[in-house]
Amino acid sequence: SKKWVLMVTAQAPTNIAVIKYWGKRDENLILAINDSISVTLDPAHLCTTTTVAVSPSFNQDRMWLNRKEISLAGGRYQNCLREIRARARDVEDEKKGIKITKKDWQNLHVHIDSYNNFPTAAGLASSAAGFACLVFSLAKLMNVQEDNGRLSAIARQGSGSACRSLFGGFVKWVMGKEENGSDSVAVPLVDEKHWDELVIIIAVVSSRQKETSSTSGMRETVETSALIEHRAKVVVPKRIIQMEEAIQNRDFPTFAQLTCSDSNQFHAVCMDTSPPIFYMNDTSHRVIGCVEKWNRSEGTPQVAYTFDAGPNAVLIARNRKAATLMLQRLLFHFPPNSDTDLDSYVIGDKSILK
Ligand code: PMV
Repeated sequence: SKKWVLMVTAQAPTNIAVIKYWGKRDENLILAINDSISVTLDPAHLCTTTTVAVSPSFNQDRMWLNRKEISLAGGRYQNCLREIRARARDVEDEKKGIKITKKDWQNLHVHIDSYNNFPTAAGLASSAAGFACLVFSLAKLMNVQEDNGRLSAIARQGSGSACRSLFGGFVKWVMGKEENGSDSVAVPLVDEKHWDELVIIIAVVSSRQKETSSTSGMRETVETSALIEHRAKVVVPKRIIQMEEAIQNRDFPTFAQLTCSDSNQFHAVCMDTSPPIFYMNDTSHRVIGCVEKWNRSEGTPQVAYTFDAGPNAVLIARNRKAATLMLQRLLFHFPPNSDTDLDSYVIGDKSILK
């Protein structure tokens, strides 16, 4: 009969890079020009929820993002769907009387419903949570028996940063050496309990969509920046080692110094692109000023800042007390008014894929 539908729902959190990925060496497979390290956020705050369904009555693959239908024609979606389908296995649901064989999956179509509980494409890593969730839920639906490391290499083909959302805690995306990307995977460094004093605040400076997508931004930077090669080959490899050590030792001053410097260097290579790319705005710059001034007056860093491909600030406070003081300062310096839509959320520090 054509009546049945089988469904799976999953949630995936976003992640924020503390050592940034910027630049691809292979655009189709999405292979980076440097390693990166991120922290995965608590899925209770910023996450994607995706439901995938399969039914013999579906006659094409379809997807809805935030309740609006979107096209699956892009290579990224097709790459993820193809890779998961290639690993699909037999599924049997005796109660419903459903039996899907490995071969059936090649002809069955899926419907995908994905929802972000935060602004999409505003430089808050919506694609990271989105593709991690898509790959994870499809893998569950199709009974794919691969670990999250293997799944990360598939999520990576949707969006580079997505590979890091398959794990909680601090995660490294190893750029890898292979041409086919098989060793370009996410590796968990420490779990979310390792450094649970940290509190992450996201100051939404603007929830508008960014003007330059990360894909075209990266391409233009790699093609035109004179600084990017030095960053990828000399600066980042050193920082990766130092960052891993700072995370292991919960060394906040080193962690903060590396995080802020790396964010600033990422925005510097964006400005070094022709034509220049500006992701931060005046408010972002004022947030940096405010944090730098406070950290200096305390003698030791209390808060680290980092900005992705958008103006929104991600502030990582050393503990709850520093986070509270930071929020008070933000509210003092940026009283809510008509031209700043600065809204603050306190983000927890745990993360789990349900
Ligand atoms: O994976 P993408 O294409 O969304 O690129 C992410 C780029 C940054 O967020 C700026 C840095 C990073 O490592 O997440």
